[in-house]
Amino acid sequence: MITFKDNVFRLSTKKTSYCFRITPFGHLEHVYYGEKIDQDQDILPFIHKRTAQLGSCVMYDESDETYSLDTLPLEWSGIGKGDYRLSPVEIKRPGGNYTTDFVYRSHRLLPGTITFPGLPSGYGDEEGCTSLEITLEDLTEKVKVLLCYTVFHEVDVIARKTVIVNAGETKLSLQKIMSLQLDLPNDDFKLLTFNGGWIKEAHKQISPLGYGTIVNSSTTGDSSNIHNPGFLIGSAYTTEETGRAYGFNLVYSGNHYGAIERSNHDLVRIQLGINPHCFEWVLDPGERFCTPEAVMTFSGTGYNDLSNNFHRFINHHIVRGNWKNRERPVLLNNWEANFFKFNQEKLLRLARKGKEVGIELFVLDDGWFGARDSDKAGLGDYTVNKKKLPEGLKSYAKKIHELDLLCGLWFEPEMVNYDSDLYRAHPEYALTTPGKKPSLGRNQLVLDLCNPQVRDYIVENVSRILDECEIDYVKWDYNRHISDALSTTLNNQGEFFHRYILGLYEVLERIFIPRPHILFESCSSGGNRFDLGMLCYSPQIWSSDDTDPIERLKIQEGLSYLYPPSTMGAHVSAAPHQQTLRDTPLSTRFNVAAFGSLGYELDLQQLSPVERKEVKAQISFYKRYRRTLQYGTFRRGEHYKDNKVIWHSLAVDQKEAISGFFQTLAGASEGFDRLRIPGLIPESKYRVKTKAQRLFIKRFGGLVKHIMPVTLNPDGVILRTANRHYGLDDCVEEYTLTGALLKDNGILLNNQFVGSYINEHVRILGDFGSSLYVTREVNDEEELRSPE
Ligand code: GLA
Repeated sequence: MITFKDNVFRLSTKKTSYCFRITPFGHLEHVYYGEKIDQDQDILPFIHKRTAQLGSCVMYDESDETYSLDTLPLEWSGIGKGDYRLSPVEIKRPGGNYTTDFVYRSHRLLPGTITFPGLPSGYGDEEGCTSLEITLEDLTEKVKVLLCYTVFHEVDVIARKTVIVNAGETKLSLQKIMSLQLDLPNDDFKLLTFNGGWIKEAHKQISPLGYGTIVNSSTTGDSSNIHNPGFLIGSAYTTEETGRAYGFNLVYSGNHYGAIERSNHDLVRIQLGINPHCFEWVLDPGERFCTPEAVMTFSGTGYNDLSNNFHRFINHHIVRGNWKNRERPVLLNNWEANFFKFNQEKLLRLARKGKEVGIELFVLDDGWFGARDSDKAGLGDYTVNKKKLPEGLKSYAKKIHELDLLCGLWFEPEMVNYDSDLYRAHPEYALTTPGKKPSLGRNQLVLDLCNPQVRDYIVENVSRILDECEIDYVKWDYNRHISDALSTTLNNQGEFFHRYILGLYEVLERIFIPRPHILFESCSSGGNRFDLGMLCYSPQIWSSDDTDPIERLKIQEGLSYLYPPSTMGAHVSAAPHQQTLRDTPLSTRFNVAAFGSLGYELDLQQLSPVERKEVKAQISFYKRYRRTLQYGTFRRGEHYKDNKVIWHSLAVDQKEAISGFFQTLAGASEGFDRLRIPGLIPESKYRVKTKAQRLFIKRFGGLVKHIMPVTLNPDGVILRTANRHYGLDDCVEEYTLTGALLKDNGILLNNQFVGSYINEHVRILGDFGSSLYVTREVNDEEELRSPE
């Protein structure tokens, strides 16, 4: 709901309120963002007081000595009138000045959302969403700014975006324009950003908010694996389950800019929008520029609830098409099994093995087209590689369908190799800068998506293959950052980075909107473009090329602050892992991947019979709890010890939960382990039971002598054969207690393996061990079955 009374705008979601007012001078003063307040609550307690004139401040107008823009919390500001914090907008007319002063002119309330052509944004109907558009104007500079707000009521998210209009008679050069500005009184805030790089995406970083500015941005041309556009601020004592926190994100896949500035008056300014780096947009008289949408949310009960606001927002207002809210298939991807070396026989053998263990979707990754036998050739071409698939792609896809599997295919449409028919025919399609040798990334150049001919080429070729082969799933890759940013189709290269992203969105729109049945998973060397813009087209994103589950604990946990499990592609791969050489148990690989959209990415034929049996059991467990794992309420446990990670996924009706208990490095003779499960119905009774899982004999090496009557050579034929056919059962525990006790006291778990003492009541964790726990309400009619 949005109201306007006595010069005060009140925006309210189910649990939060957001207020600002028009000052006597026409500026928009931010008043309140937090727990929901009554419509008639007096706002005076929340006003940032100015009862004394502060030294060093520039007076906005002589009539009020205390009115200085530098000490006002502002919804929007300008340059040159006494606010010395970051300005959300920088414009210049030929020979003109930089000074701008935006004051209120008018506003309108609108049902539903506000959309800008060409830019994806949150969607929703008139019942669930209301919008407000405020017009601000700088009369002398003849510029208008429209501030757009949309309230997503049920999910406690407020979206913001901006339009700038050139209302003058001369050209205007826009050098910076933010989607959101928010000024909050500091509350001993700390900042949580999600940083990394290739195979180490979204690692959480906590920074104190000292005086000055912290910038969380990307200049790579994409939202980047270096700094995810989303970030949070929380009060010093905010935890996963308690305390105040705010979250911000941008519905955009290009260069982003998030700034968090703490002023000397302890106001914290947050800005989010397109990165001004290399940005310049020229507006002719009458023209307008629309920013991408920024979203924000508040929780007074810790980071988990904050994340859940974002998760519900994404599941209900970002992800669209037939796969919205639909259970995602368990897939088998051939990349780590085959790399570029495969043929149809190999693929079909792998697919058949997959089918046997319960796989639902088979994905043929890179290497099926052109001369693509390595990453040095073929990108840009769409002819099938006949050496690998002699009968063609259509016949291959038919065979996959005949196995009763969905058929998935990899593309990397935004790129080109020198060694490709496309480059030979159209070198001008690739990004290059005159006089400079283009810089390669993964041996490839980026195609110029500002060029309409390039966009048509991609749309026609990808669409043709999707239709001819009846493809059910697309993995759309993008494996490098942009360099040599220049389009010969543009007069002003300051528009390049934004136009590239607009071109990308147009291409995705043209391919996928008419084909809503296709499950689209976007990828960018893993999570280099994990953002809300891509999620408007692709319901899931390949989170990382790193499939080592111990690394994934950091990656998926980091992403979980901003994105729900359904959006995270998570695969079980072979160990030792390609990315780290770490050897991890099969159980942990599954237990981590289960908290996402599950896939397998290994050669199933190389597994022993008992491992294949285990994989089959994993997949059937996953299918049984898939809705809870993909769409449940995800909660991160507090890291009560440095070497423990605990995750939960709770069914929306709170009758069921799956918990993961993960150990990174084992400590010698550690104390007890405790499993707390927050978020269940306090008075309901629950049974908690460990998911059964197999341990493989080879893990114990020479230690098997402790459980064998005879001493056997750990590398001898007998034990090697036994290891292929038998597994040991890991310890299963079972408890019954209330939701309140599960949250407060939790369960003290059985002892871990210590030294050589082993029996069925000892939890075998060691380095990288883990267990899943299934919790079900006991009154459930369905008896708790062993989760085999
Ligand atoms: C990228 C992707 C991988 C795989 C390869 C294929 O690295 O992230 O998953 O598709 O490309 O070349």
